[in-house]
Amino acid sequence: MKVRLHRPFPQQKLFMQSTARHTAFGGARGGGKSDAARNKAVLLAINYPGIQILFLRRQLVDLRENHLLPLMKILNGVAVYKSQEKEFLFPNGSRIVMSYCDAERDALKYQGQSYDVIFLEEATQFSLEQYDLIRLANRPSGLCKGFKPRMYYTCNPGGVGHSWVKRLFIDRKFTEKEKPENYAFIPSRVYDNPFIMKNDEDYVNELESLPEDLRKAFLDGNWDVFEGQYFREFDREIHVVKARQPEKGTTIYRTLDYGLDKLACYWVSVDSFGRAYVFREIWESDLIISEAAKRINEMSGEEVLMTYAPPDLWNRRQDTGKSVADIFAEHGIVLTKASNDRIAGWMEMHEWLTPKEDEFGGKSPRLTISEACPDLIRSIPALIHDKKVPGDVADEPHEFTHGPDAIRYFIAGRPAKVEESTGTDYGLEEFLDYGI
Ligand SMILES: Nc1ncnc2c1ncn2[C@@H]1O[C@H](COP(=O)(O)OP(=O)(O)O)[C@@H](O)[C@H]1O
Ligand SMILES: [Mg+2]
Repeated sequence: MKVRLHRPFPQQKLFMQSTARHTAFGGARGGGKSDAARNKAVLLAINYPGIQILFLRRQLVDLRENHLLPLMKILNGVAVYKSQEKEFLFPNGSRIVMSYCDAERDALKYQGQSYDVIFLEEATQFSLEQYDLIRLANRPSGLCKGFKPRMYYTCNPGGVGHSWVKRLFIDRKFTEKEKPENYAFIPSRVYDNPFIMKNDEDYVNELESLPEDLRKAFLDGNWDVFEGQYFREFDREIHVVKARQPEKGTTIYRTLDYGLDKLACYWVSVDSFGRAYVFREIWESDLIISEAAKRINEMSGEEVLMTYAPPDLWNRRQDTGKSVADIFAEHGIVLTKASNDRIAGWMEMHEWLTPKEDEFGGKSPRLTISEACPDLIRSIPALIHDKKVPGDVADEPHEFTHGPDAIRYFIAGRPAKVEESTGTDYGLEEFLDYGI
């Protein structure tokens, strides 16, 4: 039997040589994890006749692109692929079953099954409930005598399974039933992968230019950044500026979060470079909808291009058949529905707060806040990471969520940068200074 595999680099070798009951590999992106896992599965199938291997990824599309297609190539002429069952059958009786667990309940299908080895690719994408079910299927198949069951995991920080993976492999906080010697962790970063370092400078650059928290997680393999304070990059020195009127020629947006407990409304000016300046704030409790609308109108002076709001304000109330958005409209405030994809919105907000090279040769963030918005200023640094959903902001303390939520709606609801100039007509004289 002959297969062509990549020659493993040192970290991959350590992973492939581990025979612990549970071995996790990775911690960062581009560390050659998927490659090593795939090759390990092939080598086990060849070395141990009759071995039964389950190779899992959370989603089918990733399974196909990342593993099925490469394995078909590697195993062409070596094992027979059964497309219906998605499994590779080896002449020595070994079997690699490729599967996925998209919905929570999908993990139920392994109940009562037995696999000598289970691979969990991108383990942090599996929930603890799924993991508990999958683990039960890791027991002797009876078809590979003498082989003691093992599991191999690859992982990055973040994802629904962040906490359980971190507990077992990083913090090593075991319960009485778990034996520490059964858990091995082999770190690997993109810098350990000579193949990428040599051939894919762009990929490394991309990782290196991520916002600080994400860079620490995905490049350095730091598991702590998804805990504690959320916007660590927030710095009053950089993000808070003296109160001033927005410059002429800038476009003004409003953005709000409304509930009876709090109306948080902001006015944001955006200049021709796409830089945003939050210059006015309403932060008030116990306003009914019409009062909230009145308050916003009182505070408004300049022409506003759009007013962003979260989608739930379009829900119709049963008693009146009207939505909050309807009632705002009756008061002359037409709302624009913003996306409420929370994690994408927060990630984007990280980008806006991270100082980047500017047109003056220095570094500045895309979002600044006037000192006239004290509640927003104390809210942003008070937000903490959600414990259950890494990458998301915790809903507690709830008071601090309203202001940042409103800013997130502005950022998420805004048209892409290029559409900036379609919003307002700028006179040519605006640009003469820049040499056009
Ligand atoms: N030992 C190796 N030799 C050559 N190329 C490798 C090796 N290991 C990984 N690669 C390549 O490096 C890239 C990243 O590897 P991958 O396993 O996808 O990383 P990860 O899953 O950790 O993000 C892929 O293009 C892969 O084919
Ligand atoms: Mg991978």
